[in-house]
Amino acid sequence: MCGIIGYFGNRNAAPIILEGLRRLEYRGYDSAGMAIITNNGVKIKKDVGKVDEIHARLNFLEHEGNIAIGHTRWATHGGVTRENAHPHISNNGKIVIVHNGIIENFQEQRKFLTSQGFKFYSQTDTETIPNTIEYHMRRGYDFFEAVKRSLRHLDGQYAIVLIHEDEKKLVAVRKEAPLVIGVGEGEYFVASDIPAFLEHTKNVIFLEEKDMVMIDKDGLKIFNLIKDSFVERPIVSIDWNAEQAKKGEFDHFFMKEIVEQTEVISRIAKLEDGLIKDIADEIRKAKGTYIVACGTAAHASMHGVYLFSRIAKKHINFCIASEFPHFKHFLTPESLVIAVSQSGETADTLAAIRAAKSAGAKVISITNVMGSTLMRESDKSILQRAGPEICVVSTKAYTSQLAILYLLACELAGKLDEGKEKIRELGRYIYYLTSINMRKYLKQLAEKLRYTEHLYLIGRGLQYPTALEAALKIKEVSYIHAEAYAGGELKHGTIALIEHGTPCIVFTSEENEKEIISNAMELKARGAYIIGVGPRNNDVFDFFIKVREAGELNSICQIIPMQILAYQLAILRGCDPDKPRNLAKAVVVK
Ligand code: M6R
Repeated sequence: MCGIIGYFGNRNAAPIILEGLRRLEYRGYDSAGMAIITNNGVKIKKDVGKVDEIHARLNFLEHEGNIAIGHTRWATHGGVTRENAHPHISNNGKIVIVHNGIIENFQEQRKFLTSQGFKFYSQTDTETIPNTIEYHMRRGYDFFEAVKRSLRHLDGQYAIVLIHEDEKKLVAVRKEAPLVIGVGEGEYFVASDIPAFLEHTKNVIFLEEKDMVMIDKDGLKIFNLIKDSFVERPIVSIDWNAEQAKKGEFDHFFMKEIVEQTEVISRIAKLEDGLIKDIADEIRKAKGTYIVACGTAAHASMHGVYLFSRIAKKHINFCIASEFPHFKHFLTPESLVIAVSQSGETADTLAAIRAAKSAGAKVISITNVMGSTLMRESDKSILQRAGPEICVVSTKAYTSQLAILYLLACELAGKLDEGKEKIRELGRYIYYLTSINMRKYLKQLAEKLRYTEHLYLIGRGLQYPTALEAALKIKEVSYIHAEAYAGGELKHGTIALIEHGTPCIVFTSEENEKEIISNAMELKARGAYIIGVGPRNNDVFDFFIKVREAGELNSICQIIPMQILAYQLAILRGCDPDKPRNLAKAVVVK
């Protein structure tokens, strides 16, 4: 949930860490901080607020040095205070840490360290780590050995980066939390994800579970704590570019990533046939396929169930990832679990696939992040090729997941070429859907809805998951209460909440027009303000968003105006669409 970064090299680390913090801010933005080793010892600056606000107050660039670490926080243990912000330091003032994850036994460890005379200055679990290391160093172990020994006493999930004031060394460890290494010319970067250092290098080392990286003037070594030996990891060159991780001409990543969908969908049309066929074969062979995911990826997965049923006449089971372990009793070694996750680091999704693996089931993932934990733990993967998704709110990753699931269903039905042609054509239409004119039109609707407190959305068939996803987008960034229902379901209770002027968004398609319009009429009869989204206008609509009929691809087309509407609502209501309150990009805790 938090973002961590470290630098070891021959340049001044402060501006590199500051820029990295800005790039990582989408992972958590309660507070932020930096520690740098200078000629006069280690200097720490940290506070509550967003990176640039803190920088304006404290000046992160005041000190110079070649080794530094930084952190953006999404609070888990301890409130949002300066004391709880990272970096944290050991009692002797030498060992400094940034941490992403949770130390589950921190209370016992804190009690033990207190009994040994250690003092604690925050409520965090993190503070136990540098002090445990200091405890071992006091017993004569060197920095590396002390880190190794300390980790034996600490349970939980973590990605940590540590520096030691006297040692001019940087140590980083990952256990069930993301951490990647960037390899430059005589310099190294350690970060929660690649965009943090993409400007400096595209050469990346993806770490394995319990890899401990040790960097000093002689270079980088990796020690694996499970194998208890040094290991070699390949350096991979990635095809993302630094521009993709910048806002460019846009005010927000949210809008930039909405617009990028034209390109992303066109890229999906070029996915290698062999890859799609191979995964489709696994679905054919499996005796029971389950698709699991969280949040937006769950809506894409749910949508996949409709697609597999309609196009491939195949039943696939869908389950929210956090609930999936409760259904593990059905799994056998012949089952297949497909996990969908933009980040590939979502804790609930990882727990679901681990439950599947423990039953011997095969795991396939659809993920956007190369080298992510999900990808590494899956038997096979499809990379989404959406490019880095920086905005906390998922847009382009969602539509790329929909397009991939569509192609898999097409291949199962023997219609892959036809499916690819339809996707290719759709890419061009999305360009129109994200045009300035469309954005202006939707701004008019946002102006009408800006003071609304409750909003309802309905859709039938493929439009039901679309309604769920549209509601999530609106909630996440505008904080308007938005609830989605299957068209036939609203009248079974929730219709009691409809009053004069309650806005209701109704998704239509040629296939289900008659029934959904009847549902819209039922709402209108109770005074609702009806917003129609679909191919044909109707008298029942007070506002109409025309989106052409695209059959099984309607959902990709119809979600785009909803993403834009959510964006416009956020702006009009004074909310930051890139950093919604309480959210974090990758939810790496259960
Ligand atoms: O990285 P993942 O796709 O696994 O993330 C799953 C959800 O946490 C994510 O989709 C979340 O719901 C977003 N805030 C949606 O905009």
